[in-house]
Amino acid sequence: MKTIIEPFRIKSVEPIRMTSVSEREALLKQANYNLFSLKSDDVLIDLLTDSGTSAMSTKQWAGIQMGDESYAGSPSFYRFEQALKELAPFKHIIPTHQGRAAEKILFSILESAQSTDSSKTQIIPNNTHFDTTRANIEATGSQALDLVTKQGLDPELELPFKGDMDLMRLRDLLETQGDQVPIVMLTITNNSGGGQPVSMENIRQTKALCDEFNKPLFLDACRFAENAYFIKQREAGYQDKTPKEIVQEIFSYADGMTMSAKKDALVNMGGWLALNDDNLAMKARNVLILTEGFPTYGGLSGRDLEAMAVGLEEIVEEDYLNYRISSTAYFGDALDKLGIPIVKPVGGHAVYIDARAMLPHISPNDYPGQALAIEMYRLGGIRGCEIGTVMFGQQVDGSEKLAAMDLVRMAIPRRVYTQSHIDYCIECLAEVNKNKEKLRGVDISWQPPMLRHFTCHFTPK
Ligand code: F0G
Repeated sequence: MKTIIEPFRIKSVEPIRMTSVSEREALLKQANYNLFSLKSDDVLIDLLTDSGTSAMSTKQWAGIQMGDESYAGSPSFYRFEQALKELAPFKHIIPTHQGRAAEKILFSILESAQSTDSSKTQIIPNNTHFDTTRANIEATGSQALDLVTKQGLDPELELPFKGDMDLMRLRDLLETQGDQVPIVMLTITNNSGGGQPVSMENIRQTKALCDEFNKPLFLDACRFAENAYFIKQREAGYQDKTPKEIVQEIFSYADGMTMSAKKDALVNMGGWLALNDDNLAMKARNVLILTEGFPTYGGLSGRDLEAMAVGLEEIVEEDYLNYRISSTAYFGDALDKLGIPIVKPVGGHAVYIDARAMLPHISPNDYPGQALAIEMYRLGGIRGCEIGTVMFGQQVDGSEKLAAMDLVRMAIPRRVYTQSHIDYCIECLAEVNKNKEKLRGVDISWQPPMLRHFTCHFTPK
């Protein structure tokens, strides 16, 4: 059979409240046309993020009943630790309440382990830092450097591993400023670059470079299982390996990882920092106790640790990953056939529409990404997220700079929507595309001094 079905049945349902176009027009006005200000009850299909929005399985809910809430030494922690070590056998596993907490702890201890010459800025390279990772690095006074390959920045180019690190530039950095680099990072998949995967070959070679210069390699592994499935599909030599074996190989090259369990551990809240270095682990646990909690719960309930333990088993199931990657591609391919420009190839967790290319009659200064996101909600009740000049254009000195691209991300929550929900989104976007000449840009009528996309007000032109 060619049809790929959702590899689950639905046992518990959450109703979607239907709304009309005229109702949504009023709701948009009330929200000052900022989709973050909408109540989620007023959204039909919520594609704002794939983070923390997964549906849990019967086994995960059963695990929740088993949660042991002891302050110290809970068996739920040991179950979680064992499940993670099965995939990523790091010596020290430190739970945190979500990914950015693990990042904050890691970068604060690297700072204290800083090199002898404190006048030099510390530099942390990555293929592309996610925005919280970048912000946590910059908050310590260090520099976050993106070194993804040039091909990874071209939305049209169809290549299998557009998340790869540019090894030449990494070598150059390590040769010329290596003393300022405490760790090298690699984000799998590369969320800020369109959810593009990193090849095993690139991970291996990044590790070889790290070894040559004696630097630890840390993975930002939020979507590690999706990355592994792309390796299985696209990289020679991996077709007959199981996703679990591929995941194990990926982690065998790393010295540590930060993780948001809200993605590829199929839970609504959770994360961790894992690493091999004893001294760093001791420092991390000291900060953890100050900011998150005792090392066997780290800001989470025992039941959350149980849900993560089960999620880690389910995330590497081949049928799940086949459905996950195929269903995201199904959405993207349909938009491509309609002539809607998208970032290619389709990534693992989201489809990104190139709004600047789709709406050339709207000046980039008038935020075409926001105009498209508003129209998708108005017409179909679909909530996506502008990733463009609204998000990145505001400079520290208050000036405005165009972002490299104006994208609208439609991130797909895991195991939540069925194919008919996606068909509905495709139909809505076909309709938007048909009448796109009528769309107008927006003005920003109010904005806070930073991170404006969450709260700013828009007025349609
Ligand atoms: N790293 C990557 C690659 C991410 O995508 C995220 C979160 C984080 C770190 C931070 O994890 O949210 O648990 O603190 N990404 C979400 C998104 C928010 O919508 O892409 P967190």
